[in-house]
Amino acid sequence: MAGPPLAVGLIGYPVEHSLSPAFQQAAFDALGIPARYELWPTPPESLDERFRALRAPGVLGANVTVPHKRAAFARVDHVAERAQRAGAVNTVVNRGGTLYGDNTDVPGFLAPLRERGVPLAELVVVVLGAGGAARGILVALGEAGCRQVVVANRTPERARELAAAFGAVASSLDHRLASHLTRAGLLVNATSVGWDGVSLPLDAALLEALPATALVYDLTYHDTPFLQAARRRGLETIDGLGMLVHQGAESFRLWTGQEPPLAVMWQAALAARR
Ligand code: ATR
Repeated sequence: MAGPPLAVGLIGYPVEHSLSPAFQQAAFDALGIPARYELWPTPPESLDERFRALRAPGVLGANVTVPHKRAAFARVDHVAERAQRAGAVNTVVNRGGTLYGDNTDVPGFLAPLRERGVPLAELVVVVLGAGGAARGILVALGEAGCRQVVVANRTPERARELAAAFGAVASSLDHRLASHLTRAGLLVNATSVGWDGVSLPLDAALLEALPATALVYDLTYHDTPFLQAARRRGLETIDGLGMLVHQGAESFRLWTGQEPPLAVMWQAALAARR
């Protein structure tokens, strides 16, 4: 007789608009794993309780999203090195009541670039933003060993702090960024600007400074005005859906020990984004 289904879910606040349930459930179903991927909306005052519940038998673990990626750190028993460096846990695995924290945003960010054969080690990369998302990108770019990384942020102090922690160069987001953009092979938007479908993280005129071969990558998993402006300029673009699917696939691998069915996950994510 089959036992109760295994549970895994998304801890965040809010979580209602997430695509993760759609493509994670599709992956479990495709492999015949009797697990349910649930939404676990968790206000900060309930976080301890939620993490206690993760230790129960039958719970595989969780994904963690805004605003708890940093707080998750202190609530797991072991933290993977890349999660330590990113200062954020986005995946928790329950192994017999012991919680392991990892950060699959790091390989998730790199996967679409590797799929395209982007020669990261040769490139100057400009990262817009200096918050939690940008920090994860700097860990990934460090692993890839880029020629140089430039961090540009609205609040210069945060750019300086992040750049110093990762041996990168700090810049403002204004016209002074142009001198870095002229050398850039990859420009990444890791700010929170673009979800509204209207705003850009920098003056679109600055995109003119990029070489014609530069690639523009936005972590937002929708098309954004930033990506649209880059395409009008004739540049190749990548949106954040690939990163979302790949970070989820790596979480799936950690929970199940099985090869994630990537094509199934892609299909389900694309269908859910519509
Ligand atoms: P996340 O964890 O998603 O990175 P965050 O830590 O709040 O969220 O960081 C948001 C990033 O988007 C920051 O780099 C922020 O710039 P500041 O450090 O100056 O706040 C950037 N950001 C948010 N709104 C912005 C805007 N209107 N223009 C430019 N950058 C913006």
